[in-house]
Amino acid sequence: MAIQSIAVVGAGQMGSGIAQVCAQAGYHVTLNDVEQRFVDRGMETIRKSLGKFVEKGKLSKADHDAIVGRLHPTARLEDCFKADLVIEAIIEKPETKKELFRKLDGHLPAHAIIATNTSSIPITELAAVTKRPEKLIGMHFMNPVPIMQLIEVIRGLETSDATTQAIFEVSRKIGKTPIEVKDFPGFLVNRLLVPYLNEAFNALMEGLAKPHDIDQSIKLGLNHPMGPFELADFVGLDTCLYVMDVLYDGFKDPKFRPSPMLRKYVQAGRLGRKVGRGVYDYPAK
Ligand code: 3HC
Repeated sequence: MAIQSIAVVGAGQMGSGIAQVCAQAGYHVTLNDVEQRFVDRGMETIRKSLGKFVEKGKLSKADHDAIVGRLHPTARLEDCFKADLVIEAIIEKPETKKELFRKLDGHLPAHAIIATNTSSIPITELAAVTKRPEKLIGMHFMNPVPIMQLIEVIRGLETSDATTQAIFEVSRKIGKTPIEVKDFPGFLVNRLLVPYLNEAFNALMEGLAKPHDIDQSIKLGLNHPMGPFELADFVGLDTCLYVMDVLYDGFKDPKFRPSPMLRKYVQAGRLGRKVGRGVYDYPAK
C-alpha cells in the first residue's frame, strides 16, 4: 500500500528536519512531541530552515506557505494514530522508544509502518516489543536533514521486503538517496564516522596537536566540510560517546574503546553546540 500520510514523533533537531522534508515533498505530516513548547520549537526550526531557502530564491513564498500548511503540529500522540507511516525521532533511550512503539502498535492501522531514526539502538530489539516486527525498520537521517542526501535504511531480523521497498519509495520521494544496511552495532555510517571522531579525542589526549590544528588537518588535507571536533560538537559529544559504548559493547572488540578524553568532556557537561560548549565554546548570539 502506498504511503499517503506521515507522522513524525519527536520535534527536536532531527524530527523537525524529517517533518520538513516530508512536507516539502507534498506529504501531510503530523508533527508530535510530548509538550506544546517542544512542538512550537520544532515548527520554529522548520520556519527558519525554509526561510533560508526562500532567501536564496530556492523556494517561493507561496510554496513556503503551502509546506507550512501541510504540517500539523500537535502535543497529542493520538493525532498520529491514523498515519500510514510513523517516523520516530525521540530521545535515544531504548526503554522510552519501546514504550512509544508498544503504544503505537496498539493503535495504528494494521498496514502502518513504524520507522525509527535511531543512530545505534538495534532495530531487531525495538521491533520485538511490537506485534508487527516485519513493519518496523530503521530510517537513519543525517544532520542537517534538509541538506544531507543520505538515508540509511536498516533492516531488522524480521523486517519484510515490502516494508523495505515502501521506505525506499518514500526516501526517494523526499529527495534522498536510501542505502540498505544490516542491523549490526552502529549500522554503517556511525560505525565508520564515530571511531574516527573518537580517535581525534585520543590524539588530543596524547597532545598530538591542538584542537584547531587537528580540525584544519582534516578540512585542508581531506576536504571535509568540518574537522572532527567541529563535527563532534555538531553531532553532540554525548551522542558520540553513546555510539562508541554501543560499538564497544556490541562487538566486544578493543578497537572500539571509547576515548577517556571524550568521556571527560561529556562528564564536564561539554556536550557540544546544543549546550553552547563542547571542544569549542559557542557564545549565545
Ligand atoms: N536548512 C536549510 N539550509 C541549511 C541548513 C538547514 N538546516 N543548514 C545549512 N543550510 C544551508 C546554508 O544556508 C548554506 O546554503 P548555501 O550554500 O546555498 O548558502 C549551505 O547549507 C551551507 O551552510 P553554511 O554556509 O551555513 O555552512 P557550511 O558551508 O559549513 O555547511 C553544513 C554547513 C551543511 C552543516 C556542512 O558543514 C556539512 O556538510 N557538515 C558535515 C555534516 C555532517 O557530516 N553531517 C552528518 C553528521 S552524522 C549524523 O547526522 C548521524 C548521527 O547519527 C550522529
